[in-house]
Amino acid sequence: MRLIDTHAHLYDDDYKDDLEDVLYRAENAGVCRIICVGVDLTSSEKCIQLAEKYDSIYAGIGFHPHEASKAEKGYLNELESFSSHPKVVAIGEIGLDYHYNFSPPNLQIKILSEQLELSKSLQLPAVIHNRKSDQDLLTCIRQARPLKGVIHCFFGDIEFARQVFGCGLLVSFTGSVTFKRDLITNANLLEQLSTDKFMLETDSPYLTPVPFRGERNEPAFVKYVAEQIAVFAGTTAEEIADRTTTTALDLFNTMRP
Ligand code: NI
Repeated sequence: MRLIDTHAHLYDDDYKDDLEDVLYRAENAGVCRIICVGVDLTSSEKCIQLAEKYDSIYAGIGFHPHEASKAEKGYLNELESFSSHPKVVAIGEIGLDYHYNFSPPNLQIKILSEQLELSKSLQLPAVIHNRKSDQDLLTCIRQARPLKGVIHCFFGDIEFARQVFGCGLLVSFTGSVTFKRDLITNANLLEQLSTDKFMLETDSPYLTPVPFRGERNEPAFVKYVAEQIAVFAGTTAEEIADRTTTTALDLFNTMRP
């Protein structure tokens, strides 16, 4: 199986003692590339450092909506200078989060919109977080079109997915597809979703799939996401792995072999 984990936070303290073991297990599980995404300037820089050190790691840079109120004047210039690194393949993690509202919604919208413009001008796909913010998110995306990117950790119905695709974006799925609570919603969605419209991710260290739910997540576990989606889609995990790897290499095309 050849897999890509399109979203992980490997700079997290959770990996400070055993990152090399984590990467070794990922490689053994067939994970050929991992996109490590930052949530502010410090973590974005750490992603680049990891990408420099490890062949399989690529970097995403950006301000997460939780951190939007910490984006200081000039942050866009900083991000732009980071983007010249050859292993930076995405602007993200950016987005909106109205569940926690750690930053005020208006500020979240401003910071997201600025970074969507950056994504467009640098021609780097956007990696977008969305929680309880569907309508404002679609408005921001429509204003910034044409865009390339992905709504990560997608949760929603086929109608919302179609609106996302209509904007030229894709979606990606985490280990949350294995959670009992969402099995029916996800089964309905995945039955109707064409296999070239989505990718896989772990969002490590969060959202650990069954059978390791409750433990720290890691990129090797992306195979459980592939297996669960294969069940929903009525195909094999190998097929899902192949299709999603091709989709990820098409979207994040600067990490092609
Ligand atoms: Ni994330």
